[in-house]
Amino acid sequence: MNKALRKAIIAGNWKMNKTPAEAAALASSIKSLAAQRDCQVVLAVPFVDLAAVGEAIKDSGIYLGAQNCHWASNGAFTGEISPQMLVECGVSHVILGHSERRQYFGETDETVNRRLLAALEAGLHVILCVGEQLSQREQGITREICAMQVKIALGGVTREQMERVVIAYEPVWAIGTGKTATAAQADEVCGAIRQVVEELYDSSVAQALTIQYGGSMNAGNAQELLDQPNVDGGLIGGASLKGEDFAKIIAAASR
Ligand code: 13P
Repeated sequence: MNKALRKAIIAGNWKMNKTPAEAAALASSIKSLAAQRDCQVVLAVPFVDLAAVGEAIKDSGIYLGAQNCHWASNGAFTGEISPQMLVECGVSHVILGHSERRQYFGETDETVNRRLLAALEAGLHVILCVGEQLSQREQGITREICAMQVKIALGGVTREQMERVVIAYEPVWAIGTGKTATAAQADEVCGAIRQVVEELYDSSVAQALTIQYGGSMNAGNAQELLDQPNVDGGLIGGASLKGEDFAKIIAAASR
C-alpha cells in the first residue's frame, strides 16, 4: 500500500472562532465551494457550533469534528465534554493533543492518551496532534519528541482501533506564525512518525495510516506539501476560516 491508497483528509480546526450563526454560514459556503472533491473533509468546530454546523453540512459527506473531549463518560468535571456527548451530537472526529491544549491547558502525553482511549472506545475517529517546539528542533530532537508523543498517546490502542486514528504533525513553531515547514521537513517528520507506528504495530498499519501536516498551510503552499509521499492531508487553522482558501486546499488534496 502506498500514498495513493491512503485516505487524504483535509480538516479545518476552527479553534475558538465563529458564533453558531457565523459557523452555519461558513459551513454552508464550504459545502457548496467543495461540492466536487476527492478527499475526506472534516470541520472541527467549537462545541457550541456543533448543532448549527451539523445541520449546515447535512447530506454533504463532510464530517463533523470537535476539538477535544474528556476521558470520562460523565461525572463531576465542570466545563468538560465527554466522547459520548459528542457522538450523540453527530460528531465523528475529535482532535486530541493539540499544541494549544498542551501549552495553555496543561495537557500532557498521559492525558492525551486517556482522552484518546476514551474517544476510540466511544466510536470516534481521532486526529492526534504531535509536534516539536522551535527550541527542540534547534536541539535536533524533533524525531525523538514526536516519537515520544506518538508512543505515549497510542499506549493501549489496538491494531483495529488504529483504523480510526489519524496523526497530524504540527510543528509548534509553524502554527499561526505564517512560518510553514518546508515540504522536505514536513515529509521527513511524517515519514519518521510512520516509522514509529510501524515499530509499534506493523508495516500494514503504518502504510494505511493517514498522516496530516499542519502549521500555516494555506491555499498557496498546500499543493507542494500534499504532494509529499508521507503527507496525506492537512490540519488547517487560519485558512480554514476562509471558505475559498479552504476549498482551494481541498482541491489540492483531490488531485
Ligand atoms: P494555522 O493553520 O493557523 O497555522 O493552525 C494550524 C493548526 O494549529 C491546526 O490545528
